[in-house]
Amino acid sequence: MEQFDVLVVGSGGAGQRAALEAASREGLRVALITKIYPTRSATAMAQGGINGVLNNVAKEDTIEDHIFDTVKGSDYLGDQDAIEFFISRCPECIKELDYFGAPFSRTNENKIAQRNFGGQAYPRTCYSADKTGHVIEHTLYEQCLKHNVQFLQEWYLLDIVKVADGSVGGVVAWNMKEGRVEKIAATAVVIATGGAGRMFWTRTSNPYLSTGDGMAACFRAGCALKDPEMVQFHPTGLGKSGILMSEAVRGEGGYLLNNKGERFMAKYAPSKMELAPRDVVAKAIETEIAEGRGFGGTGLDAYVVADVRHLSKEVILEKLHGIRDLAITFEHADPLVQPIPVRPTCHYSMGGIDVKDFKTCATVVPGLFAAGEAACVSVHGANRLGGNSLADAVVFGKVAGEGAIAYVENNSAKNAEKALNDAANAWEAKFKEVTSRTEGRPIAEIRDEMALAMWNKVGIFREASKMEEALATLNKLIEEYKTCYVGDSNRTFNMAFVNYVEVGSLLTVAKAVVLGALRRKESRGSHLREDFTKRDDANFLNHTLISLGEDGEYQVGQSDVVITRFEPKERTY
Ligand code: FUM
Repeated sequence: MEQFDVLVVGSGGAGQRAALEAASREGLRVALITKIYPTRSATAMAQGGINGVLNNVAKEDTIEDHIFDTVKGSDYLGDQDAIEFFISRCPECIKELDYFGAPFSRTNENKIAQRNFGGQAYPRTCYSADKTGHVIEHTLYEQCLKHNVQFLQEWYLLDIVKVADGSVGGVVAWNMKEGRVEKIAATAVVIATGGAGRMFWTRTSNPYLSTGDGMAACFRAGCALKDPEMVQFHPTGLGKSGILMSEAVRGEGGYLLNNKGERFMAKYAPSKMELAPRDVVAKAIETEIAEGRGFGGTGLDAYVVADVRHLSKEVILEKLHGIRDLAITFEHADPLVQPIPVRPTCHYSMGGIDVKDFKTCATVVPGLFAAGEAACVSVHGANRLGGNSLADAVVFGKVAGEGAIAYVENNSAKNAEKALNDAANAWEAKFKEVTSRTEGRPIAEIRDEMALAMWNKVGIFREASKMEEALATLNKLIEEYKTCYVGDSNRTFNMAFVNYVEVGSLLTVAKAVVLGALRRKESRGSHLREDFTKRDDANFLNHTLISLGEDGEYQVGQSDVVITRFEPKERTY
């Protein structure tokens, strides 16, 4: 059995930054398991940039401004003490990336270049053309290799294992190549497995791997999911596929146009226009489409367009070449000469594993830490600013690494052998049972029905009766899942089995999303209720907490939002 001091699950920005921090501490045995190749995570798809006050472009920008923009952007649901801690740490974490060798675009003075992004007072989004997440991933991977992090790739998290005193003892994982259950003992475990956008299946900018595995495993291990209803819809997914057209398009000066050729954002956010926060822009686009001012009708094929033709060819080729490639490949539209069809797409889980201490990323389970999109600290509240996710990944990845180091230094390794054996035996039995079934509903059908219910009934616009229908659908699917058809009993690279476990994770998290969305009888940030159209601070200036009761039923609770300096005000842009 493998035994480590710190085990990180997930190879995105948060996971690799946590592993790097822990491995930089002399003498610690650090491993990272990932179900993919380490540089292929969702971080590699967040392309527009990473926020931090460096004053390379806007001399007048301040940490205070970034804190305020984030609090206001969150529609006052973010915890202000955590936001202050987060924003104050962004500049040093970006400078570290630069020092590690991340190839940021530069200003004429050879400083890290910064561009405008939505909902921010100044250009503070540091970027590498429109491939920022990609270069950060590769830079962190190189550093992790340099510091001897042991990568266990194509190992897929099955469960977090606790020992008798309730603390973490390690994890069990599915070794995809060998086709067997692995037991990994660890004193501290950091979960950094990303979001759950694939619950919307093809209407998401997320890669296929964003299936909420860590959220679901932590939920089973006793952590609450905080604010799971807060799902971000990025305004500009490609029309047909939902693939991300980076906010860099608007940051560099691109326009959004309806079928009348109008820059419709003038109606919704007259001062910020296309650079309003994502919730505001996504709602505006969907409103234009619903009122008949989109292209292609009002159904699933409808879209508005993003136009960058007025930007120079040089700007497009130098700063937006990635989005140009995607637009040509997936929409047959060359942005140099054609507008790009776009429509909102599920992009980010602002809710997630409830982090109890933002200074360590500790959860309620001793020895278990969570960071990045999988976690809810909470710094994004009801709406995350573009560029704050890469910053969240590297800041809280590092914090989780520091938290895990401190835990390991103060706690000896637990004897987890029996608990790991029991968990591994249970999963081995499950593998045999589910893969030998000869009938049942095919897992892909369950996934597709879930996605359709989520997009149509718990998407951008929400109301109680449709969400109740979605909940009924999910409950039915959860029952069908228990006897579903998986269809492949081979061991080596059995993706049918992996997909089976992934769909289980998605169903677990999707149900929490719906329960949270039903509880929150108000509109706030990305959560738009057609039956409760106003923000209601008197009753809902609080976090949703969804947890698993001892009876196996979902429990719905709440906790206070931390307000320090900024009293909630109406948000206008
Ligand atoms: O639009 C983008 O480039 C995505 C960035 C983000 O989600 O932070």
